[in-house]
Amino acid sequence: MSVPKRATDVPSWNGILPPSMKLPFIDTPDSVTYNAMKLAELTPDPRMREILVGLVRHMHDFTRETSITTDEWLKGIKFMAAFANQRQPPHIEYMLLLDVFGVSTLVDTINNPPVKNATASDVIGPFFMPDAPDKENKDTIVDDTNGIGKAEYLYFEGRILTTDGQPIPNVSVEVWEVDEEGLYDLQYESRDAPNGRGRFRSRADGTFEFRGVVPSAYPIPLSPPLESLMNAWNRHNMRAAHVHFWVKAPGFRELITQLYPDNNEWVTTDGVFGGKRSLVINLKRVDDKSESEKRGIPGARRSTMLSSTSCC
Ligand code: BEZ
Ligand code: FE
Repeated sequence: MSVPKRATDVPSWNGILPPSMKLPFIDTPDSVTYNAMKLAELTPDPRMREILVGLVRHMHDFTRETSITTDEWLKGIKFMAAFANQRQPPHIEYMLLLDVFGVSTLVDTINNPPVKNATASDVIGPFFMPDAPDKENKDTIVDDTNGIGKAEYLYFEGRILTTDGQPIPNVSVEVWEVDEEGLYDLQYESRDAPNGRGRFRSRADGTFEFRGVVPSAYPIPLSPPLESLMNAWNRHNMRAAHVHFWVKAPGFRELITQLYPDNNEWVTTDGVFGGKRSLVINLKRVDDKSESEKRGIPGARRSTMLSSTSCC
């Protein structure tokens, strides 16, 4: 039987999968790939076709290049099954899996290429929650009624500007960060209200400000299957310290990003390949009690003020 040059040359093709006999028998590894590619090429939707053709090609190339054994193939299936059985919502597990391979950051970077004078984007991560409370400028995002433990106060001053430097008023700036234990509120089973989150609005001159804690580096939560992968890979699972931002203004592109204080131990080996150079910001230590009090920082604790200008 002659091999069709293109899948659509299969004579019986009329939008229904062609009868299997119209494809060559599977005699060799290459004929498996050939037939799988042919079927991928018949995908009706053009974008879906592009994705499936690429996926089949890369999966087959990967399998061939690494000479995957039957045992390894089975291990891979068990690995994916272990993921699906995790107690956390599976999409978090799968997101983390793509994160540690750098795929999430790659998707983000491809889809949000650098724009001159604009703050770079970064991944949203699995800890965003849509229930951040609306806050007034200067409010705190952390519940510090019982102190902030080993953390230090952070005072953040930001400004939203167009890429040609004009202030943008009334921009929604949503922020979220870990607490003094390096945990998001979502990681506490007892969470009954948001903590470490807030939604602010820029003033007429584009400024906004809030109080929180200086973020600490924290380990990405690892389920047993992901932990076994990271161990086999001999990789740490630390995220460099950061604060998350989601900036939204009508008529402008949204910006989802993270800012990383300097002196950040993990910033270049971040577990999810975050930490772009342009997102590293300078923290200025402020030891003056009156300056702290002006910013609503309780008691005589040392405050740390962080200043940054962001554009969107
Ligand atoms: C985060 O920044 O919250 C995050 C991002 C990716 C994986 C885990 C956490
Ligand atoms: Fe985070």
